[in-house]
Amino acid sequence: MKAVRLHAYGDPDVLRVDEVEAPVPGPRDVRVRVCATSVNPVDWKIRSGGQRNVIRYKLPWILGLDVSGVVEAVGARVTRFKVGDEVWSSPTHRRPGTYAEQVCIDEREVALKPKNLSHDEAACLPLVGLTAYQCVVEKGRLQAGQTILVHAGAGGVGSFAIQLARHLKARVITTCSAKNADFVRGLGADQVIDYTKEKFEDAGPVDLVLDSLGEGALPRNLAVLRPGGRLSNITLDLPRHVERYGPLLSLFTISATIVWLHLWPLLRKGVRSRHVIKRCDGEQLQLITALVEQGAIKPVIDRVLPLDEIRAAHRHSEGHHARGKIILHVADR
Ligand SMILES: NC(=O)c1ccc[n+]([C@@H]2O[C@H](COP(=O)([O-])OP(=O)(O)OC[C@H]3O[C@@H](n4cnc5c(N)ncnc54)[C@H](OP(=O)(O)O)[C@@H]3O)[C@@H](O)[C@H]2O)c1
Repeated sequence: MKAVRLHAYGDPDVLRVDEVEAPVPGPRDVRVRVCATSVNPVDWKIRSGGQRNVIRYKLPWILGLDVSGVVEAVGARVTRFKVGDEVWSSPTHRRPGTYAEQVCIDEREVALKPKNLSHDEAACLPLVGLTAYQCVVEKGRLQAGQTILVHAGAGGVGSFAIQLARHLKARVITTCSAKNADFVRGLGADQVIDYTKEKFEDAGPVDLVLDSLGEGALPRNLAVLRPGGRLSNITLDLPRHVERYGPLLSLFTISATIVWLHLWPLLRKGVRSRHVIKRCDGEQLQLITALVEQGAIKPVIDRVLPLDEIRAAHRHSEGHHARGKIILHVADR
């Protein structure tokens, strides 16, 4: 099969389109014929080597953490899916591999794809949807009538989180640049802050912050939160830790940062702060399928490229200004 493999850590040119053996499903795996996948910032963070002290892959490795496609084989112990099912998934970081024509995924990380979306549209949502759901509902416990600040509302996670919070009948404040203001309002944002001109600290108090800005923004996020509020952080600047402290010592500084991120807001302001790492959960993804089928969440596509254009796709994502998701179309149904 055709697959995009990481041959060494570095710039997008280290990604190569190769011919490789099709993967063989383990007993709990389904093998999915990939129709579409998408680029997530974590893909280029892995590619550049910025995460290599946290998770190591035996190179060459196939990247990719989103898929929409069709089940074409199942392992001996698979009970939930059968050949021909149209499914979607965001597999575990320990086992990326969706930049390919076929991928094997544990059935517990898979759900039936929303019937009202094409595969290209569906591939936008699993990773960002699970992340947003875990930040807003699970850890953030956002209630109707509360206010959430969603950072980077025009991005993959942000565009999903705005729609989810709106569906939960919360008031939504979001940050983006001026060119995206109408777009995020269209997703359901009540108040838009142009982060290039305005201070989001002035928008408070809010009940919950979904923070994708990184640990450097913690003091400002605390300033905008009400006492006893909640903070869901999804971004740590791992490359900076590795660059500054080296591969071994940075393991310590990253752990210390996570402890600080949890404890300091609690001690300062009674804020429950969590660093959230997306959990792969097929049952939760099935809830997201239902939300999409109800029309509560719509995919946002920045552009669709063929798998062969993976390097251009990474370069665009690394520019930090994609609006919604960059899709890699792999095959028609
Ligand atoms: N922990 C986890 O499990 C997890 C899961 C998913 C994502 N993440 C992380 O979360 C971050 C966001 O992911 P994503 O997929 O949403 O990224 P993305 O789609 O690449 O985000 C792009 C968006 O960021 C906006 N943006 C750039 N700089 C900004 C700023 N200073 N303030 C506000 N908005 C800004 C841009 O809007 P403008 O063009 O208007 O500037 C653009 O629309 C990444 O660091 C990613 O690695 C973590």
